[in-house]
Amino acid sequence: MPTRREVMVGAVGLAGAGFAGGIFAAAPARSAVPTLTIQPARARIVEEVTEALVSTRPDGPPPVIRLKQNESYTVDVVNGHGAPTAMHWHGLRVPHAMDGVPYLTQPPIRAGERFRYTFSSEDAGTYWYHPHCLTMDQMARGLTGVLIVDEAEDPGFDADISLNLRDFRLDGDGQFMDLWTARGAARGGTLGNVMTANWATTAEHTAPSGGLARVRIAATDVTRIYRLWFDGAPGQIIAMDGHPLRTPVPWPSEGAPLLLSPGQRVDLAVLMPAEEGSAFTVKARAPGSPRTLAAVRAEGANVGRTLSDFVELPANPVPEPDLENAQLEEFVFGWSPQDAAPRYGLCGTLGYTFWSINREPYQGDAAEDLTPLAVLKLGQSYVLRLRNESPNAHPVHLHGLTFRPIRSNKREVLGNWTDTALLGRGETLDVAVLASNPGDWAFHCHIIEHQKTGLAGVIRVE
Ligand code: C2O
Ligand code: CU
Repeated sequence: MPTRREVMVGAVGLAGAGFAGGIFAAAPARSAVPTLTIQPARARIVEEVTEALVSTRPDGPPPVIRLKQNESYTVDVVNGHGAPTAMHWHGLRVPHAMDGVPYLTQPPIRAGERFRYTFSSEDAGTYWYHPHCLTMDQMARGLTGVLIVDEAEDPGFDADISLNLRDFRLDGDGQFMDLWTARGAARGGTLGNVMTANWATTAEHTAPSGGLARVRIAATDVTRIYRLWFDGAPGQIIAMDGHPLRTPVPWPSEGAPLLLSPGQRVDLAVLMPAEEGSAFTVKARAPGSPRTLAAVRAEGANVGRTLSDFVELPANPVPEPDLENAQLEEFVFGWSPQDAAPRYGLCGTLGYTFWSINREPYQGDAAEDLTPLAVLKLGQSYVLRLRNESPNAHPVHLHGLTFRPIRSNKREVLGNWTDTALLGRGETLDVAVLASNPGDWAFHCHIIEHQKTGLAGVIRVE
């Protein structure tokens, strides 16, 4: 298997951990390539300091990564953590070898090793990154970060704020409880009990008074389907799942919140309050009463912008599927056959198999001669019919390709480009895609307990 892996056993360890100023600090001496060192972390999320977090710095969330549309980006991911790992750039249409899925696209990065990722993105917008090995453990402990691809032309906001939404499952002393339960995994998933944005129970940010702020929200939790709305300032939704809208998405309210499922993102243009100190807030439905996940406070003199100053973002060059000539591929999401045993892999098993796609639970990370769920022809358009025969919702994610929902038996679909579509209970959702990127692409539910107990597979484009 050809590999671009660069092994530096022993030489790296935690050497990158002490730098100041985030990932753009130079990697140890010999190169200027930014480094993400996966490592144990501790941080004050609740009153007590939480230990046994996993991040790319010792004391806080993984940083926002920024790259520029169409410009090559290189990053070294260093395993300073011990357990095997790999990094996936969720939503980016990268070449297969850079997609970060162990066994499928690269070997796992073992303790002390580094892997150099190089890619560029034709698509601007809000994406994110997370490991694709031992995901339940590493993601639930914090290893999820926002990745921004800046438009080739600056869209001219006065502020740009990223909110990484995720839960932690903490006990009364602020330490991790079981990250998941078998009961949860076999149903809707195990919810966290501490909702956070940027690892804070209420994230505090500022933006110029009367300014136009871009607020990017990424749902990186392993389970929670967020129900969000906004307060304190007017605005509009300008992008979903990275891509500028083709069809408007209504501004949500408490009565009609925006569903944002694990893996999804939303970008807002917000007209900040003119009065210094007033705040725009992000609210989420939560047990009991609504939670304020983030507040963006107006700061300084009123810059006097209006919402009409917002210039629409240019469309990304996602190849348009040809619906007239599309072929149909069907996928059924449901329980696993009763006799299916969990399959061992270096990248972790939860010890159960509850779920399947097309009645075939995932063959395991290290499966040899893995059978794809479907083989798509490069350059051909497809309708992927996603049918949910389970009573639980599944955010269905496809790597390497961008698709758009075209119809559902349950609701009106808006048809915006995405990489993660929420499939509701009893729903059959058709999505259209042009098979434009060759490779074996991971295809799975983004509720990690579902993914890791069978709800995963591979779609081949060749
Ligand atoms: Cu966000 Cu296969 O992942
Ligand atoms: Cu699921």
